[in-house]
Amino acid sequence: MDLPDLLHKKNYSRDDIIDLLSLTDADDVQALYDAAYAVKAAYVGRVVYYRGLIEFSNRCIKNCCYCGIRRDNRDVERFDTDRDDILAMAKWTYDNGYGSLTLQSGERQDDEFIAYIEGLLRDIKKLSDGGLGITLCVGEQTEDTYRRWFEAGAHRYLLRIETSNPALYATLHPQDGHHQWSVRKECLDMLHRLGYQVGTGDMIGLPGQTLEDLADDILFYRDMDIAMIGMGPYVVHHNTPVGKQFLADDLDTDAGKLHRLHLGLKMIAVTRLVLKDVNIASTTALQALHPFGRELGLKAGANILMPIVTVPKFRSQYLLYDNKPCVDEVPAQCKDCLRARVASVGDTVGLGKWGDSPHFFHHTHP
Ligand code: 5AD
Ligand code: SF4
Repeated sequence: MDLPDLLHKKNYSRDDIIDLLSLTDADDVQALYDAAYAVKAAYVGRVVYYRGLIEFSNRCIKNCCYCGIRRDNRDVERFDTDRDDILAMAKWTYDNGYGSLTLQSGERQDDEFIAYIEGLLRDIKKLSDGGLGITLCVGEQTEDTYRRWFEAGAHRYLLRIETSNPALYATLHPQDGHHQWSVRKECLDMLHRLGYQVGTGDMIGLPGQTLEDLADDILFYRDMDIAMIGMGPYVVHHNTPVGKQFLADDLDTDAGKLHRLHLGLKMIAVTRLVLKDVNIASTTALQALHPFGRELGLKAGANILMPIVTVPKFRSQYLLYDNKPCVDEVPAQCKDCLRARVASVGDTVGLGKWGDSPHFFHHTHP
Protein backbone atom coordinates (compact mmCIF):
# COMPACT_ATOMS: atom_id res chain seq x y z
CA MET A 1 0.00 0.00 0.00
CA ASP A 2 1.18 3.55 -0.77
CA LEU A 3 2.32 5.54 2.22
CA PRO A 4 -0.38 8.26 1.86
CA ASP A 5 -3.08 5.56 1.97
CA LEU A 6 -1.43 3.87 4.92
CA LEU A 7 -1.30 7.15 6.81
CA HIS A 8 -5.03 7.75 6.45
CA LYS A 9 -6.59 4.41 7.22
CA LYS A 10 -9.50 3.98 9.59
CA ASN A 11 -8.48 0.60 10.92
CA TYR A 12 -4.94 -0.69 11.09
CA SER A 13 -3.79 -4.31 10.89
CA ARG A 14 -0.70 -5.66 12.67
CA ASP A 15 1.15 -5.65 9.33
CA ASP A 16 0.22 -2.01 8.71
CA ILE A 17 1.59 -1.09 12.12
CA ILE A 18 4.82 -2.96 11.47
CA ASP A 19 5.15 -1.24 8.07
CA LEU A 20 4.77 2.18 9.71
CA LEU A 21 7.25 1.40 12.47
CA SER A 22 9.71 0.22 9.82
CA LEU A 23 9.84 3.57 7.99
CA THR A 24 13.36 4.98 7.85
CA ASP A 25 13.43 7.43 4.93
CA ALA A 26 13.48 10.94 6.46
CA ASP A 27 10.63 12.24 4.25
CA ASP A 28 8.47 9.21 5.00
CA VAL A 29 9.06 9.53 8.73
CA GLN A 30 8.21 13.25 8.57
CA ALA A 31 4.99 12.39 6.70
CA LEU A 32 4.17 9.93 9.50
CA TYR A 33 4.69 12.60 12.19
CA ASP A 34 2.64 15.14 10.24
CA ALA A 35 -0.24 12.70 9.78
CA ALA A 36 -0.18 11.85 13.50
CA TYR A 37 -0.13 15.53 14.42
CA ALA A 38 -3.20 16.09 12.22
CA VAL A 39 -5.03 13.23 13.98
CA LYS A 40 -4.07 14.74 17.34
CA ALA A 41 -5.42 18.15 16.21
CA ALA A 42 -8.67 16.57 15.03
CA TYR A 43 -9.33 14.26 18.00
CA VAL A 44 -7.82 15.89 21.10
CA GLY A 45 -6.86 19.37 19.89
CA ARG A 46 -3.55 21.21 19.73
CA VAL A 47 -3.66 21.63 23.48
CA VAL A 48 -1.12 20.18 25.88
CA TYR A 49 -2.27 19.22 29.37
CA TYR A 50 0.07 19.11 32.33
CA ARG A 51 0.30 16.47 35.03
CA GLY A 52 2.65 17.86 37.68
CA LEU A 53 4.89 14.95 38.67
CA ILE A 54 5.68 14.47 42.36
CA GLU A 55 8.29 11.75 42.84
CA PHE A 56 7.80 11.37 46.56
CA SER A 57 9.87 8.31 47.46
CA ASN A 58 12.45 6.06 45.81
CA ARG A 59 11.95 3.09 48.11
CA CYS A 60 10.97 0.08 46.07
CA ILE A 61 10.32 -3.58 46.87
CA LYS A 62 10.80 -4.52 43.22
CA ASN A 63 13.98 -5.30 41.40
CA CYS A 64 13.31 -4.60 37.72
CA CYS A 65 16.61 -5.25 35.95
CA TYR A 66 16.65 -1.94 34.01
CA CYS A 67 15.71 0.53 36.74
CA GLY A 68 18.11 2.69 38.73
CA ILE A 69 16.08 2.57 41.95
CA ARG A 70 15.67 -1.21 41.97
CA ARG A 71 15.86 -2.74 45.42
CA ASP A 72 19.34 -4.19 44.97
CA ASN A 73 20.97 -0.90 43.98
CA ARG A 74 22.78 -0.20 47.24
CA ASP A 75 24.35 3.01 45.89
CA VAL A 76 21.02 4.82 46.02
CA GLU A 77 20.26 6.94 49.05
CA ARG A 78 16.62 6.23 49.81
CA PHE A 79 14.30 9.11 50.64
CA ASP A 80 10.73 9.78 51.71
CA THR A 81 9.11 13.18 51.36
CA ASP A 82 7.39 14.71 54.39
CA ARG A 83 3.65 14.87 54.09
CA ASP A 84 3.71 18.66 54.44
CA ASP A 85 6.25 18.96 51.63
CA ILE A 86 4.05 16.85 49.35
CA LEU A 87 1.03 18.97 50.19
CA ALA A 88 3.06 22.13 49.49
CA MET A 89 4.03 20.69 46.07
CA ALA A 90 0.38 19.84 45.39
CA LYS A 91 -0.65 23.36 46.36
CA TRP A 92 2.00 24.81 44.06
CA THR A 93 0.72 22.59 41.25
CA TYR A 94 -2.84 23.77 41.82
CA ASP A 95 -1.97 27.46 42.23
CA ASN A 96 0.01 27.37 39.00
CA GLY A 97 -2.93 26.07 37.01
CA TYR A 98 -1.57 22.62 36.25
CA GLY A 99 -5.00 21.00 36.58
CA SER A 100 -3.70 17.57 37.52
CA LEU A 101 -0.87 15.95 39.38
CA THR A 102 0.74 12.54 39.36
CA LEU A 103 1.97 10.93 42.56
CA GLN A 104 4.78 8.54 41.72
CA SER A 105 7.10 6.41 43.84
CA GLY A 106 8.74 3.05 43.93
CA GLU A 107 6.44 0.19 44.80
CA ARG A 108 5.42 -0.68 48.35
CA GLN A 109 2.47 -2.79 49.43
CA ASP A 110 2.59 -2.49 53.22
CA ASP A 111 -0.34 -1.24 55.29
CA GLU A 112 1.47 1.91 56.38
CA PHE A 113 2.08 2.92 52.76
CA ILE A 114 -1.49 2.16 51.72
CA ALA A 115 -2.93 4.25 54.55
CA TYR A 116 -0.40 7.04 53.90
CA ILE A 117 -1.45 7.35 50.24
CA GLU A 118 -5.10 7.24 51.19
CA GLY A 119 -4.64 10.14 53.61
CA LEU A 120 -2.60 12.10 51.11
CA LEU A 121 -5.28 11.74 48.45
CA ARG A 122 -7.94 13.09 50.79
CA ASP A 123 -5.71 16.00 51.86
CA ILE A 124 -4.86 16.93 48.26
CA LYS A 125 -8.52 16.84 47.27
CA LYS A 126 -9.31 19.06 50.25
CA LEU A 127 -6.62 21.66 49.60
CA SER A 128 -7.80 22.07 46.02
CA ASP A 129 -11.54 21.91 46.78
CA GLY A 130 -11.66 18.82 44.61
CA GLY A 131 -10.11 20.83 41.78
CA LEU A 132 -6.90 18.89 41.17
CA GLY A 133 -7.13 15.72 39.12
CA ILE A 134 -4.94 13.02 40.66
CA THR A 135 -3.11 10.24 38.86
CA LEU A 136 -1.43 7.52 40.90
CA CYS A 137 1.65 5.68 39.69
CA VAL A 138 2.67 3.44 42.58
CA GLY A 139 2.68 -0.03 41.10
CA GLU A 140 0.94 -3.35 41.58
CA GLN A 141 -1.58 -3.52 44.43
CA THR A 142 -4.58 -5.57 45.52
CA GLU A 143 -8.06 -4.74 44.29
CA ASP A 144 -9.00 -3.63 47.80
CA THR A 145 -6.13 -1.13 47.86
CA TYR A 146 -7.00 0.23 44.43
CA ARG A 147 -10.60 0.62 45.60
CA ARG A 148 -9.61 2.50 48.76
CA TRP A 149 -7.49 4.92 46.75
CA PHE A 150 -10.21 5.42 44.15
CA GLU A 151 -12.69 6.26 46.90
CA ALA A 152 -10.16 8.66 48.42
CA GLY A 153 -10.00 10.67 45.18
CA ALA A 154 -7.55 9.16 42.67
CA HIS A 155 -9.27 8.89 39.32
CA ARG A 156 -6.43 7.90 37.02
CA TYR A 157 -3.81 5.19 37.41
CA LEU A 158 -0.64 4.62 35.42
CA LEU A 159 0.88 1.16 35.35
CA ARG A 160 3.14 0.36 32.46
CA ILE A 161 3.01 -3.13 31.04
CA GLU A 162 6.64 -2.43 29.96
CA THR A 163 6.22 -4.91 27.08
CA SER A 164 3.20 -6.87 25.90
CA ASN A 165 5.46 -9.87 25.27
CA PRO A 166 5.50 -12.04 28.44
CA ALA A 167 8.69 -13.83 27.33
CA LEU A 168 10.54 -10.53 26.87
CA TYR A 169 9.12 -9.31 30.19
CA ALA A 170 10.65 -12.38 31.82
CA THR A 171 14.12 -11.50 30.52
CA LEU A 172 13.90 -8.03 32.10
CA HIS A 173 12.62 -8.98 35.52
CA PRO A 174 13.87 -11.39 38.18
CA GLN A 175 12.14 -14.75 38.04
CA ASP A 176 11.39 -14.78 41.76
CA GLY A 177 7.60 -14.98 41.61
CA HIS A 178 7.22 -11.25 42.38
CA HIS A 179 7.62 -9.92 38.86
CA GLN A 180 4.91 -11.59 36.82
CA TRP A 181 3.54 -10.22 33.58
CA SER A 182 0.16 -11.85 34.26
CA VAL A 183 -0.15 -10.01 37.59
CA ARG A 184 0.57 -6.71 35.91
CA LYS A 185 -2.10 -7.37 33.31
CA GLU A 186 -4.59 -8.43 36.00
CA CYS A 187 -3.90 -5.15 37.81
CA LEU A 188 -4.84 -3.23 34.66
CA ASP A 189 -8.10 -5.19 34.46
CA MET A 190 -8.87 -4.45 38.11
CA LEU A 191 -8.23 -0.74 37.63
CA HIS A 192 -10.64 -0.74 34.70
CA ARG A 193 -13.33 -2.54 36.69
CA LEU A 194 -13.03 -0.03 39.52
CA GLY A 195 -13.65 2.91 37.18
CA TYR A 196 -10.18 4.43 36.95
CA GLN A 197 -8.97 6.03 33.75
CA VAL A 198 -6.23 3.54 33.02
CA GLY A 199 -2.83 4.36 31.60
CA THR A 200 -0.14 2.01 30.48
CA GLY A 201 2.87 1.99 28.19
CA ASP A 202 6.08 0.30 27.24
CA MET A 203 9.78 0.88 27.05
CA ILE A 204 11.06 1.20 23.51
CA GLY A 205 14.35 -0.11 22.20
CA LEU A 206 14.85 -2.75 24.88
CA PRO A 207 17.45 -5.41 24.22
CA GLY A 208 15.74 -8.33 22.50
CA GLN A 209 12.66 -6.30 21.51
CA THR A 210 11.48 -6.50 17.88
CA LEU A 211 9.24 -4.24 15.76
CA GLU A 212 6.66 -7.03 16.00
CA ASP A 213 6.76 -6.69 19.79
CA LEU A 214 6.23 -2.94 19.53
CA ALA A 215 3.31 -3.42 17.10
CA ASP A 216 1.81 -5.86 19.62
CA ASP A 217 2.21 -3.25 22.36
CA ILE A 218 0.01 -0.86 20.37
CA LEU A 219 -2.53 -3.64 19.79
CA PHE A 220 -2.40 -4.38 23.52
CA TYR A 221 -3.32 -0.74 24.26
CA ARG A 222 -6.18 -1.04 21.81
CA ASP A 223 -7.50 -4.35 23.05
CA MET A 224 -7.22 -3.27 26.70
CA ASP A 225 -9.14 -0.11 25.86
CA ILE A 226 -6.42 2.06 27.36
CA ALA A 227 -7.21 5.78 27.73
CA MET A 228 -3.74 7.11 28.53
CA ILE A 229 -0.37 6.10 27.14
CA GLY A 230 2.91 6.86 28.88
CA MET A 231 5.78 5.23 27.04
CA GLY A 232 9.32 6.16 26.24
CA PRO A 233 12.65 4.93 25.01
CA TYR A 234 14.77 2.71 27.18
CA VAL A 235 17.61 4.75 28.68
CA VAL A 236 20.65 3.10 30.24
CA HIS A 237 21.20 3.22 33.98
CA HIS A 238 24.82 2.22 34.47
CA ASN A 239 24.29 0.36 37.75
CA THR A 240 21.65 -2.13 36.63
CA PRO A 241 21.97 -5.59 35.05
CA VAL A 242 20.35 -4.52 31.77
CA GLY A 243 22.34 -1.27 31.63
CA LYS A 244 25.65 -3.02 32.30
CA GLN A 245 25.01 -5.55 29.54
CA PHE A 246 23.94 -2.79 27.16
CA LEU A 247 27.18 -0.92 27.82
CA ALA A 248 29.28 -4.09 27.54
CA ASP A 249 27.67 -4.80 24.15
CA ASP A 250 28.50 -1.22 23.10
CA LEU A 251 24.86 -0.46 22.27
CA ASP A 252 24.73 2.95 23.96
CA THR A 253 26.54 4.81 21.18
CA ASP A 254 25.26 8.12 19.77
CA ALA A 255 23.76 6.16 16.88
CA GLY A 256 22.09 3.76 19.32
CA LYS A 257 20.58 6.64 21.30
CA LEU A 258 19.31 8.32 18.14
CA HIS A 259 17.79 5.05 17.00
CA ARG A 260 15.87 4.66 20.28
CA LEU A 261 14.77 8.31 20.15
CA HIS A 262 13.36 7.84 16.64
CA LEU A 263 11.73 4.56 17.56
CA GLY A 264 10.14 6.30 20.56
CA LEU A 265 8.80 9.08 18.33
CA LYS A 266 7.50 6.61 15.73
CA MET A 267 5.71 4.71 18.50
CA ILE A 268 3.96 7.94 19.56
CA ALA A 269 2.96 8.70 15.99
CA VAL A 270 1.70 5.22 15.15
CA THR A 271 -0.14 4.93 18.48
CA ARG A 272 -1.87 8.24 17.66
CA LEU A 273 -2.84 7.02 14.17
CA VAL A 274 -4.22 3.75 15.49
CA LEU A 275 -5.90 4.85 18.75
CA LYS A 276 -6.78 8.45 17.77
CA ASP A 277 -8.56 9.91 20.84
CA VAL A 278 -6.32 8.76 23.70
CA ASN A 279 -3.97 10.88 25.79
CA ILE A 280 -0.32 10.27 24.98
CA ALA A 281 2.50 11.66 27.11
CA SER A 282 5.70 13.06 25.70
CA THR A 283 7.93 11.61 28.39
CA THR A 284 11.11 12.81 30.04
CA ALA A 285 13.01 9.78 28.72
CA LEU A 286 12.77 11.31 25.22
CA GLN A 287 14.57 14.36 26.55
CA ALA A 288 17.23 12.18 28.18
CA LEU A 289 18.22 11.14 24.66
CA HIS A 290 17.80 14.49 22.89
CA PRO A 291 17.62 18.11 24.16
CA PHE A 292 14.36 18.66 22.26
CA GLY A 293 12.99 15.17 22.76
CA ARG A 294 9.75 16.26 24.38
CA GLU A 295 8.95 18.88 21.71
CA LEU A 296 9.55 16.23 19.07
CA GLY A 297 7.11 14.01 20.95
CA LEU A 298 4.42 16.71 20.81
CA LYS A 299 5.04 17.14 17.09
CA ALA A 300 4.70 13.39 16.59
CA GLY A 301 1.25 13.34 18.21
CA ALA A 302 1.64 13.45 22.01
CA ASN A 303 -0.61 15.84 23.98
CA ILE A 304 0.44 15.43 27.63
CA LEU A 305 3.50 16.67 29.53
CA MET A 306 4.47 15.71 33.04
CA PRO A 307 6.49 18.63 34.43
CA ILE A 308 8.52 17.54 37.43
CA VAL A 309 7.40 19.39 40.55
CA THR A 310 9.49 17.31 42.94
CA VAL A 311 11.57 19.59 45.17
CA PRO A 312 15.14 19.90 43.84
CA LYS A 313 16.79 18.15 46.81
CA PHE A 314 15.09 14.85 45.86
CA ARG A 315 15.17 15.09 42.05
CA SER A 316 18.69 13.77 41.86
CA GLN A 317 17.80 10.78 44.05
CA TYR A 318 14.93 9.65 41.83
CA LEU A 319 17.02 8.39 38.95
CA LEU A 320 15.45 5.56 36.99
CA TYR A 321 18.05 6.10 34.24
CA ASP A 322 21.19 8.16 33.52
CA ASN A 323 21.07 11.74 32.13
CA LYS A 324 17.69 12.54 33.63
CA PRO A 325 16.87 16.09 32.51
CA CYS A 326 15.59 18.90 34.77
CA VAL A 327 17.44 17.62 37.85
CA ASP A 328 18.82 21.04 38.78
CA GLU A 329 15.70 23.07 38.08
CA VAL A 330 13.09 24.31 40.55
CA PRO A 331 9.40 23.86 39.64
CA ALA A 332 8.97 27.49 38.54
CA GLN A 333 11.85 27.13 36.07
CA CYS A 334 10.27 23.97 34.64
CA LYS A 335 7.01 25.82 34.22
CA ASP A 336 8.57 28.63 32.16
CA CYS A 337 10.77 26.25 30.23
CA LEU A 338 7.87 23.99 29.27
CA ARG A 339 5.62 26.86 28.27
CA ALA A 340 8.30 27.95 25.79
CA ARG A 341 8.76 24.39 24.56
CA VAL A 342 5.00 23.96 23.96
CA ALA A 343 4.77 27.32 22.19
CA SER A 344 7.68 26.36 19.92
CA VAL A 345 5.58 23.48 18.59
CA GLY A 346 2.55 25.72 18.00
CA ASP A 347 0.40 24.10 20.69
CA THR A 348 -1.11 25.87 23.70
CA VAL A 349 -1.23 24.75 27.34
CA GLY A 350 -4.62 23.70 28.72
CA LEU A 351 -4.19 25.42 32.09
CA GLY A 352 -6.61 24.73 34.92
CA LYS A 353 -8.25 21.82 33.10
CA TRP A 354 -8.14 18.11 33.86
CA GLY A 355 -7.73 17.24 30.19
CA ASP A 356 -9.23 13.77 30.48
CA SER A 357 -8.83 11.53 27.50
CA PRO A 358 -11.95 11.69 25.31
CA HIS A 359 -11.44 7.97 24.80
CA PHE A 360 -12.34 7.26 28.41
CA PHE A 361 -15.87 8.50 27.84
CA HIS A 362 -16.41 6.33 24.77
CA HIS A 363 -14.73 3.25 26.08
CA THR A 364 -15.82 -0.24 25.36
CA HIS A 365 -13.95 -2.39 27.89
CA PRO A 366 -16.31 -4.79 29.71
N1 5AD B 1 14.75 3.63 30.93
C1 5AD B 1 13.54 4.09 30.59
N2 5AD B 1 12.45 3.96 31.36
C2 5AD B 1 12.62 3.34 32.56
N3 5AD B 1 11.74 3.05 33.53
C3 5AD B 1 12.39 2.42 34.52
N4 5AD B 1 13.68 2.28 34.21
C4 5AD B 1 13.86 2.86 32.98
C5 5AD B 1 14.96 3.01 32.12
N5 5AD B 1 16.17 2.57 32.44
C6 5AD B 1 10.31 3.31 33.39
C7 5AD B 1 9.50 2.03 33.50
C8 5AD B 1 8.60 2.27 34.69
C9 5AD B 1 8.55 3.77 34.75
C10 5AD B 1 8.17 4.34 36.08
O1 5AD B 1 9.87 4.16 34.42
O2 5AD B 1 8.73 1.89 32.32
O3 5AD B 1 7.31 1.71 34.55
FE1 SF4 C 1 10.60 -0.20 41.29
FE2 SF4 C 1 9.22 0.80 39.21
FE3 SF4 C 1 11.89 0.80 39.23
FE4 SF4 C 1 10.58 -1.51 38.93
S1 SF4 C 1 10.56 0.24 37.49
S2 SF4 C 1 12.35 -1.16 40.29
S3 SF4 C 1 8.79 -1.17 40.27
S4 SF4 C 1 10.57 1.93 40.62
